[in-house]
Amino acid sequence: MELTEEQKMIKETVRRFALDQVEPLAIEIDREHRFPEETVEKMAELGLLGICIPEEYGGAGMDDLCYYIAVEELSRVCGSTGLTLAAHISLCTYPIYAFANEEQRKKYLPDLASGKHMGAFGLTEPNAGSDAGGTEATAVKDGDGYLLNGTKVFITNAMHAGTFIVTARTSKEEGVKGITAFIVERDTPGFTVNKGPEKLGMRGSDWGELVFDNARVPAENIMGEKGGGLKLFMQTLDGGRISIGALALGIAQGALDKAVAYAKTRIQFGTPIIEHQGIGFKLAEMATNIEAARHMVYSATRNKMAEKPHTKESAMAKLFASETAVRAASDAIQVHGGYGYAAEYHVERYWRDAKLCTIGEGTSEIQKLVISRHLAK
Ligand code: CAA
Repeated sequence: MELTEEQKMIKETVRRFALDQVEPLAIEIDREHRFPEETVEKMAELGLLGICIPEEYGGAGMDDLCYYIAVEELSRVCGSTGLTLAAHISLCTYPIYAFANEEQRKKYLPDLASGKHMGAFGLTEPNAGSDAGGTEATAVKDGDGYLLNGTKVFITNAMHAGTFIVTARTSKEEGVKGITAFIVERDTPGFTVNKGPEKLGMRGSDWGELVFDNARVPAENIMGEKGGGLKLFMQTLDGGRISIGALALGIAQGALDKAVAYAKTRIQFGTPIIEHQGIGFKLAEMATNIEAARHMVYSATRNKMAEKPHTKESAMAKLFASETAVRAASDAIQVHGGYGYAAEYHVERYWRDAKLCTIGEGTSEIQKLVISRHLAK
């Protein structure tokens, strides 16, 4: 697939960075459930934390495909690191650029783009997961601000974020139109963040719970229209789902890289196992699905960049890429046999990490719902 010179350059730069700085830590941060602050600092130095944000707001001013390629290349060696970048950009920094007013952009984007603040997105609640319109958190007008009450769960980057965008109900009567988006600063009185439970995979990415107990947020921190929060968050997920597609694509490609390298050197029955059709054909199928996933992720991105509709396309790309990643990682373990079950061969981690992609930013079933609703139109 033809890339511009800038896209090729970012692919090479991030690939080199991922191999030199990210992969050497991948097993350790997974084992220790540790968020690699040192890596995030280096990503900030490279300009990745504001990669697709215009220079006037402190970003690197690159296009969206450069950003998704960066997520892909990081995830090729470490899904957690890819997820940290994806949540920071797609779920906070980019939506502030795309949907906030000029004052809010100027106030929040430079610190997010420089990495001074990480970003996080608070939509999911204990009783509102797939049913995002079932938001129960409330925001009640109080003088020139709002008092927020409620809990958000499974929030990526929560423990390290300085800036959050969250939804809360400003009207009980208006259903999905009674939900408003707010920008919330970390040190808001009444707002606390608790560490999330231990996870199956993505253990080097942090997640947490956001608790609002009469947290006072100024009215000027409403993002977009009052009552327009769910729509705005759905639009945010249109871009976010491409980032999960890119994340899944990277994991799948990484699993294939490892499986091919192993199959070329592992000798059984007197020949490298890649020459046994049972293995060679498995690798061929993996490579074919990965190539198809890449086309879907890049094509959804190109729609987004051209400001064409991409709700259906991003749902399809996420669905296909994430299911491909789970299968590819599972097959990569199978190719490695007993060694695949051992942490030092990486592929068992890829499998655990890939599973997140079929759940985060909408389950595979929600993607099918979005796609089928488009078909029914
Ligand atoms: N773009 C613009 N507007 C959109 C939209 C989109 N992509 N999708 C929906 N809307 C609008 C609708 O048009 C509607 O507005 P109108 O009434 O004015 O037309 C409004 O938003 C509500 O939409 P629906 O009527 O379709 O709402 P619904 O209750 O039927 O829900 C849903 C739709 C697709 C199921 C949605 O709830 C959904 O996507 N659920 C999954 C939530 C999700 O992905 N959560 C992930 C959390 S983030 C996360 O996981 C991050 C992480 O850290 C990894």
